[in-house]
Amino acid sequence: MRVIESHGARIPIIGFGTMTLKDDLCIDLVEAALHLGYRHLDTAQNYGNEREVGAGLRRSGIRREDVFLTTKVWFNRLAEGDFERSVDESLARLGLPFVDLLLIHWPNAQIPLAASIAALCKVKRAGLAKHIGVANFNIAMIEEANKLATEPLACLQIEAHPYLDQSRVIAAARRHGMAVVGYCPLARGKVPGDEVLQRVGRAHGKTPAQVALADLEQQDIIPIPRTSKRERLSENLGSVELSLSAAEMTEIDKLKRPNARIVSPPQSPQWDN
Ligand SMILES: NC(=O)c1ccc[n+]([C@@H]2O[C@H](COP(=O)([O-])OP(=O)(O)OC[C@H]3O[C@@H](n4cnc5c(N)ncnc54)[C@H](OP(=O)(O)O)[C@@H]3O)[C@@H](O)[C@H]2O)c1
Repeated sequence: MRVIESHGARIPIIGFGTMTLKDDLCIDLVEAALHLGYRHLDTAQNYGNEREVGAGLRRSGIRREDVFLTTKVWFNRLAEGDFERSVDESLARLGLPFVDLLLIHWPNAQIPLAASIAALCKVKRAGLAKHIGVANFNIAMIEEANKLATEPLACLQIEAHPYLDQSRVIAAARRHGMAVVGYCPLARGKVPGDEVLQRVGRAHGKTPAQVALADLEQQDIIPIPRTSKRERLSENLGSVELSLSAAEMTEIDKLKRPNARIVSPPQSPQWDN
């Protein structure tokens, strides 16, 4: 599978997002995803399923070094000391000595960025995370984090789908050589009913979900779609075989509209758009 390289990290171009997946369903789907060919898993302390994600990984029998696994530190655990404890707890639940990528899940205005970036870098130096990065940062925070970091920040994870214009924040991440991972790539279920995506898909014998995912992949944005259904695991993975034309991507780009953001909880920073 194609990978996006960033500061030594090699991130597979599509990942399996696991938010909301719990218990045996989560274990089964992680195992199934890996058997189908996914090599990138996205979890978080806050999803309450690190134990199941680790179990699915082990049950798959796929070699650990062949899978890129991300977890995240929740925004109320960013203070020095607490940050490290949070990572230790995540690793214990996952049953792993390290993760491939550790992200600050959301910024926290109550905790100085210098403290949480220092803790993030310390965790990398300790070998508990091969690579580090941030999620849900705005441009100013990306700039400041990169100034503060003593280890390279390899990734920015943000909301990304055909309706949301993230071009400015993506450009900021790229200036620092950060890979961009896109969450909610199916706009939480809005994509399948979209007439433009349906029409583009029909021309290729593909589904609208595959079109939306391929559109991100061709812009080097790594989608991490979630599904609770096995058949959709392979459908979403099939996006990597679709090649959209420049004209089709221009048409999809025109789907961008104001107020398209889906995820904006109270801890969100001042967004750039
Ligand atoms: N860093 C952050 O702050 C953050 C925030 C949100 C999400 N994330 C990560 O990003 C991942 C993905 O985002 P998300 O789960 O919010 O949204 P999403 O992947 O855009 O959408 C998931 C929804 O789409 C449906 N779906 C999946 N594949 C489909 C297909 N081929 N055709 C039709 N419907 C389909 C799923 O329903 P079924 O289950 O019925 O298939 C589910 O309801 C999360 O799981 C999580 O890992 C990160």
